Amino acid sequence: MNENTLESVQQCLNQFDVTEEQLQQIQAGILGDMERALGRQAGSSPSVQMLPTYVRSTPRGTEQGDFLVLELGASGATLRVLWVTLTGISGPRKEPVSQEFTIPTEITLGTGQQLFDFAAGCLVQFLDQLQVGSQPIQLGFNFSFPCHQTGLNQSTLISWTKGFRCSGVEGQDVVQLLREAIQRQGAYNIEVVAVVNDTVGAMMSCDPSPQACEVGLVVDTGTNACYMEEVRHVAELKEDRGRICVNVQWGSFGDGGALEPVQTPFDLQLDQESLHPGTQSPSHGRARAQAMLQELGLTPSAQDCAQVQRVCGAVSSRAARLCAAALTAVLARVRSNPERSPLGVSVATGGRLYKQHPRFSALLQQTVRLLAPDADVTFVPSEDGGGRGVAVVTAVASRLALQRRQLEETLAPFRLHSQQLKAVQAQMRESMVRGLRGESSSIRMLPTYVCAMPDGTERGDFLALDLGGTNFRVLWVKVGSRSEEGIKIINRVFSLPESVTQGTGQQLFDHIVDCIVDFQKENNLSGQTLPLSFTFSFPCKQLGLDQGILLNWTKGFKASDCEGQDVVSLLRAAIRRRQGVELNVVAIVNDTVGTMMSCGYEDPHCEVGLIVGTGTNACYMEELGNVCAVPGDRGRMCINMEWGAFGDDGLALQEFYTPFDLSVDQASINPGKQRYEKLISGMYLGEIVRQVLLHLTHLRVLFGGQEFPSLQTKDIIKTKFLSEIESDLERWQVRAILEKLDLQADCEDALLVREVCQAVSRRAAQLCGAGVAAVVEKIRENRGLDRLSVTVGVDGTLYKLHPHFSEQVKDAVRELAPQCCVRFLLSEDGSGKGAALVSAVACRLAGAAGP
Ligand code: BG6
Ligand code: GLC
Repeated sequence: MNENTLESVQQCLNQFDVTEEQLQQIQAGILGDMERALGRQAGSSPSVQMLPTYVRSTPRGTEQGDFLVLELGASGATLRVLWVTLTGISGPRKEPVSQEFTIPTEITLGTGQQLFDFAAGCLVQFLDQLQVGSQPIQLGFNFSFPCHQTGLNQSTLISWTKGFRCSGVEGQDVVQLLREAIQRQGAYNIEVVAVVNDTVGAMMSCDPSPQACEVGLVVDTGTNACYMEEVRHVAELKEDRGRICVNVQWGSFGDGGALEPVQTPFDLQLDQESLHPGTQSPSHGRARAQAMLQELGLTPSAQDCAQVQRVCGAVSSRAARLCAAALTAVLARVRSNPERSPLGVSVATGGRLYKQHPRFSALLQQTVRLLAPDADVTFVPSEDGGGRGVAVVTAVASRLALQRRQLEETLAPFRLHSQQLKAVQAQMRESMVRGLRGESSSIRMLPTYVCAMPDGTERGDFLALDLGGTNFRVLWVKVGSRSEEGIKIINRVFSLPESVTQGTGQQLFDHIVDCIVDFQKENNLSGQTLPLSFTFSFPCKQLGLDQGILLNWTKGFKASDCEGQDVVSLLRAAIRRRQGVELNVVAIVNDTVGTMMSCGYEDPHCEVGLIVGTGTNACYMEELGNVCAVPGDRGRMCINMEWGAFGDDGLALQEFYTPFDLSVDQASINPGKQRYEKLISGMYLGEIVRQVLLHLTHLRVLFGGQEFPSLQTKDIIKTKFLSEIESDLERWQVRAILEKLDLQADCEDALLVREVCQAVSRRAAQLCGAGVAAVVEKIRENRGLDRLSVTVGVDGTLYKLHPHFSEQVKDAVRELAPQCCVRFLLSEDGSGKGAALVSAVACRLAGAAGP
């Protein structure tokens, strides 16, 4: 071969060189097309297709069972059938049994029915040999052509590629065609559970440890990739949470001309001779064309061979480099996903060209490192040609279906319908009436001796205590003219250790007085005897404004020797014990009443107080004539309902108590008591959620069945957790919250935990709404009105911090009390302000303004 010839060969080969700059342009082009295709932007026609595959998670490694896999289109005109046994994490790995069938050309170019009948026939032949019997068989269908999937087992062929051209299949659901063909054979009970592309099979075949594999790459007769994308970026799905595997279908990139700068006259000629001129990049087809020339029996000289090798080398190098450019575009998308593995990205690789070519994979990897130097990429060969991955998808699909059923069954009792809520409202109403009449009722309907709302003329300085919510507070409340100074508050939160809340009554009240004395010193109030209002958020039988007998502790308090005692006397005794301290206890007020008064200062229509925090309760203005315990029938009095105990008589709520609620009740310090409160308030919701999570873990629906010790810990899930987890967070943020509780959750777990929280808190809000509806309807009927406009003053961490609770309460009230227009007003400064106002109103009415 003379020098001229060598030079012209070289010149010819130079055309196959692709510069780094060109690769970067191709990468940017593909990335841009990927983003446009994901966004389904109007007017754009990107040349990659970005098809959702409905595979929503990567394998856990726990998948188990026997699966039948049918591969069509993964490697030329062959069809493969596999029997894959997945053995989970601990079981020994089992090799799949497989058989290949050659598809005759008359079938690849025949009718769709012929093709699918042929496939079903191969399945039967294979299963006959395996002798699997009549058991139900789950099949995963690897169908590696561009398809538009609408579900995990629904997929419409867009167009044939790779030499196939069977009539009547394009535009049809290939799963349905396969199903029908299987039925025509009638031999086996086969359910087609999932249909996947070969890239998905490759991605799903890889071991999830040490890091999940989130990209699948196949270079064979055709080339393509898939990867895990955030579902909110896939416009066609209109979903906002979770991830989904997207089939890039990049083979047609360049159909619009983007590859022209790197296309040679030889590529153009090959493209013209292919079955689909102008579609699917022919880049690596060149290697195949060269091999075929040799198979044609040409007898080249050694030099010819060397030249042929050079030509092959140039062609395959270019193919590897182009593939790398496309892959880095995919990696750029994966790396923008905040949920990706912190360890880096694993790419599963498959296809004969990738695996068998001596230099293809090395060159591709090298180019990826050149184009994306800071991407920490690991290449993992797929197993069993992706067959195992298809089995994994099939296993995941059937696991998800089973899990969904189990989750739905578990949560069904939490989902209340209108009729049930109406029944709760009616029973609450009945219990209210019985309580007011002094008849036996689980709702005590306690008179509070608060008969008037503030009118704005109250003045003076007051001390207030706020005991019974999340915080214990001492406050200095300065009530000035409403139009000028308004109300000013100085307060301090003191800790109340469990040794105090559950020690002796003397310890508790001594501690309270110590805190008051500290507060007075800090604020130069020592020596002044300001009127003191005591918000004491427990059920008290009041005989006057400054006398309240504690009926029983609630919400985790259990100080001894207090129940049955007058709380004001206990406080006064502690003041005496401390010596040298003068305090003038004027009023004892429930937190609901404090809240109503506090909101009443802002809005004169506020005639209901509602607390949904550690505990739950409500108060409202009742006609005195209806209150049997207090003489007189003119005017109104605020009634502390103590509705938390609703149902304690066993006459209501029985049907709502799930086994989870019963466990929470049994493990509480007051079993059988406060049954309504235990379905609603913050102190218990976290525990209910924990019980449900334990059950779902036990069923292996959650955490892969791992029973984390932290989940065994009582009260580990606080109200704050529910509020956080149900707010608009990404799944990785939900996982981070779970991790703080030492619960190692994957993305699916995170969504399931959120669903549990939603079901539990929604039931709570609806039950609470039924209670509010009963109260406002009673007020309306008391007054003989067709329509009532009323304001409910509300406080409590659950109501205030939870992202959806308040809306759900309002929805329920709207539905259950349609004749009432109810405004919910948040109490801004806690109930201490309202307690001070109770004293201020009392002072005003007694004609003696506060000092
Ligand atoms: C506070 C009130 O804001 O809310 C307390 O000042 C009340 O009186 C409390 O008990 C209720 O909410 P939580 O969530 O602290 O129990
Ligand atoms: C508990 C108390 C009640 C209080 C409510 C809200 O139910 O018994 O008095 O109002 O919690 O704090």
